[in-house]
Amino acid sequence: MRKPMIAANWKMYKTPKESLAFLDEFLPQVESHTASEIAIFPTMSSLGYVIEATRGTCVTAGAQTMHWLNEGPYTGQTSPTMLESIGCTAVLIGHSERRIYAHETDDMVNLKLKAALDHDLIPIVCVGETFDKREAGLTEAVLRWQVAVALNGIQGDLCGKLVIAYEPVWAIGTGSVATPRQANEAHAIIRHEVAVHLGQRCSQSTRILYGGSVKPDNVANLMAEPEIDGALVGGASLQPRSFLDIIRNATA
Ligand code: 13P
Repeated sequence: MRKPMIAANWKMYKTPKESLAFLDEFLPQVESHTASEIAIFPTMSSLGYVIEATRGTCVTAGAQTMHWLNEGPYTGQTSPTMLESIGCTAVLIGHSERRIYAHETDDMVNLKLKAALDHDLIPIVCVGETFDKREAGLTEAVLRWQVAVALNGIQGDLCGKLVIAYEPVWAIGTGSVATPRQANEAHAIIRHEVAVHLGQRCSQSTRILYGGSVKPDNVANLMAEPEIDGALVGGASLQPRSFLDIIRNATA
C-alpha cells in the first residue's frame, strides 16, 4: 500500500558540477527502477541543475528547506513559489540540522508544511529526539509533540501526500544507527499521532522514512520492519555506488 521512498539528503555537499557527475553515473542505473520512489535533495545552488538533469526520469529533486512565505525581505531565503517556478516538487522540512543551526521551531515547521501543501510540494517533515531526551525516557513525548505541532490546523485530504522522516539526532552522522526495533517503535508512535490528527486512513497512507547512519549493509534490516517505509540518507548517498546499493538492498 505504501510505496517505499529512498531519499538522498546531500546537505552542504556537491557543487553543480559534482552533482551532475553523480547523476551521469547514477541515472542510467535506475532507468527501469520501479520498486521504490527515489528522491534527491541537493544544496540550493545545485537544485536547478539537478531538476533539469532528472526531468523525465524516475528521480524526484527537492529542496533541503524553504521559507513559508511567497516573497519578502528575508535575505538568504527561498520561497515555495520560487521552488515551484524551477520545477521543484519536494521539500525537506524541519531537518534537525535546520532546527539546531538555523533555530527552526515546531511552529515554523507547521507554517512550512502548510505552505508546501498549498504549493503541491511533497513535504518530508523531519522529527526525532536527541540523545538526552531518549536517555530521559522522553522519546515518545518528543515525537508526539513534534508531530502534533507540525500537523496543527492542517486540513483537507492528505492521504498519500504526507511523508515524515524519523531521524533520531543521536544517529545522524554518528555511525550509531537505531536498531530496527527502536526505529519501528518510534515510527509506530509517529503513525499513531498522525492518526490522532488526520485519521486512520491518512495515517496508514503516510510514509515514514528512517534516517540516521543508513548504509548499504543496514538498510535491509530496517526496511524489514512493518512501520518503516523508506530511508533518508545523508553521508552514504554522496557516492553513486553506495546510494545505488542502498536502493537495491532496501527492496531486495
Ligand atoms: P547520515 O545518513 O549521514 O547519518 O545523515 C542522516 C540525515 O541527516 C539525512 O537527512
